[in-house]
Amino acid sequence: MLRRTLLAGGALTLAGAATTGCTARESTVDSIASIIPFHGPRQAGIETPAPTNATFLALDLKAGTDRAALGRLMRLLTDDAARLTQGIAPLADAQPELAALPARLTVTFGFGPGLFTAAGRASPVQPLPAFTVDRLQPRWCGGDLLLQLCADDPLTIAHAQRMLVKDARAFATVRWVQRGFRRGRDPQRNVLGQVDGTANPQPGTDVFAGAVWNDDGGTTLVLRRIRAELETWDAVDTVGKEFSVGRRLSDGAPLTGRAEHDPLDLTAKTANGFPVISEFAHAARAHVTDDRQRIFRRPYNYDEAPAGDGTPEAGLLFASFQQDITRQFLPIQRKLDEADLLNEWITPIGSAVFAIPPGCQEGGWIGQGLLG
Ligand code: HEM
Repeated sequence: MLRRTLLAGGALTLAGAATTGCTARESTVDSIASIIPFHGPRQAGIETPAPTNATFLALDLKAGTDRAALGRLMRLLTDDAARLTQGIAPLADAQPELAALPARLTVTFGFGPGLFTAAGRASPVQPLPAFTVDRLQPRWCGGDLLLQLCADDPLTIAHAQRMLVKDARAFATVRWVQRGFRRGRDPQRNVLGQVDGTANPQPGTDVFAGAVWNDDGGTTLVLRRIRAELETWDAVDTVGKEFSVGRRLSDGAPLTGRAEHDPLDLTAKTANGFPVISEFAHAARAHVTDDRQRIFRRPYNYDEAPAGDGTPEAGLLFASFQQDITRQFLPIQRKLDEADLLNEWITPIGSAVFAIPPGCQEGGWIGQGLLG
């Protein structure tokens, strides 16, 4: 008999016969048995707390996958996701024991431009225009259907991925898979060592809702794979690193403030009359004052096998959620493309856009409004 307990952040924990042993074992089992509800007006995996591991997986639809077929696919995948996220094995799971510990698993579906074309509908999202900083590699770009899988346990993600891809096989092929990770506790730091996420709209607030959620419960995602040039970054001293962003490395505080969440003072001057935070610093260039133009960043780090000579292959899976890519993401990205001191050490190598459809209630399925 399973017992469900509500945890902070909207997560539930499953506790049962397996947790009646010693205390240490109980707490381990409890932490990886936590559950994020699947059903609701909005999909989980955006405003819900970001677990430590993420897999972003893009599928390409096979020729002939029309609107009716897409409906069948999304019914199937929604049913799988609704079960897997709640610690229940999907139908025909050959290894149901791997579904038992959901570890805050969320499965978030995104629809790329090609899915709308296949469904005979106009796409609300378009691939981004080219930017001068881009060095895009086709193998990290595009995709018709996105699965964003997040969980605190990589085995949970591996199992969920296998189940979902298995059920999608008749309709689609795998285009790319990108895996990332975050710290298990705040403050978050990226692979460049910077405190990352400070100026984000805070989940649960009206500002967040106004920036991210559309009235129907949907949103959009821009996923950029951005390589960090760690070798040259390593050659920069702390002052130079802090100057490029406008924040301190030690605690993420603005160069004009004392604590991480102090506001940036873009007017403050040094004794010599120079701005303390350069107008070309990343945080200064990316800063917007209108709350409705803000974006919500939910990035994960990646770190692939280094090259044979030891050169790192690491960076950010930069996931940005916003109501409207054109109104919110693009103006910020354009400003960063024009001038951003950080550009010397970051290189976009992948780019994809998706509409994130609203969530669904029990008995419903993701995409029903579009495909039903
Ligand atoms: C690898 C690439 C990137 C790195 C390492 C990076 C790093 C950072 C850091 C350290 C901060 C300051 C702390 C914070 O508020 O989170 C920051 C702020 C920010 N970044 Fe980035 N960033 C990257 C790419 C981007 C991109 C592509 C965009 C949007 C197109 C973006 C938009 C922002 C925004 C909106 C802020 C908050 C600015 C403010 O209002 O203070 N960043 N970023």
